[in-house]
Amino acid sequence: MPRKPVAVLISVRGSNLQALIDAARRADYPAEIVRVIANVPGAGGLARATQAGIATETIDHRKFANRPAFEAALDASIRASGAELVCLAGFMRLLTAGFVDAWRDRLINIHPSLLPKFPGLDTHKRALEAGETHAGCSVHFVRTEMDSGPLLVQAAVPVLPGDDEDRLAARVLQAEHRAYPLALSLVAAGRVRVAGEQALIDGQPGPVRLD
Ligand code: GRF
Repeated sequence: MPRKPVAVLISVRGSNLQALIDAARRADYPAEIVRVIANVPGAGGLARATQAGIATETIDHRKFANRPAFEAALDASIRASGAELVCLAGFMRLLTAGFVDAWRDRLINIHPSLLPKFPGLDTHKRALEAGETHAGCSVHFVRTEMDSGPLLVQAAVPVLPGDDEDRLAARVLQAEHRAYPLALSLVAAGRVRVAGEQALIDGQPGPVRLD
C-alpha cells in the first residue's frame, strides 16, 4: 500500500515528532513524513527532521499581519509538500476555523491529558491539584474548539506518590511517544472514520486505549 504523506507542525522540542520519525522508519508503517514546519525559528525539532533527511520549513507567525495570513502560508506549504494528513506535535498556535475546516478529519493533535479532562495549558499541575489517580494523553482529530474533537488514542499512566509536575510530565511524555505513532498509523491506514463526532476505528467506537 502506498504510504500516506504527512506534514508535521511543531513549535519547540519535537520529541513527539521524533517518535513519529522513528515509527515511520519501519517499512510497513503506513505514513511517511514529507515535511516538518515550525512556526518558531530554531525550534529543536527542525534539527531532528534534518537529521532524518526530512525537508523542513520555518513559517514565523510573527511575520504575518494576522492569523488567516499565517494560516494561508501554512496551508500552501503543506499542500506544496504533497501531504494529505497534518500532525500537530507541540504546535503552540491556535488554528482558526478556515484552516481547521479545510483539513477536517485529516488534522491530528496530541494533548497531554485524558480529554475531556484538562484542555488547555498546565495540564499536569491541574491533574495533581485535582488529586487525579491517573493522568495521560489524548490523540484526536482537531476541531475549532481548543483540545476537542474525535478521540483516536488515549494512554493513561498512574499518578505516583511524590509526583511533581516534571515527574508526571515525563511519564506522560513516554505514553505520548507510544500513542501518537499508533494514532497516525490508524488514520494513515484508512482504519478510522468519523460518525456523529466519534471516531470509529475498524468500526468500533474510539478511542483505542493504551494503558
Ligand atoms: C507535548 O506534551 C504535547 O502533548 C503538547 O506539547 C508537548 C510537545 O512536546 N501538545 P514535544 O515538542 O513533542 O517534545
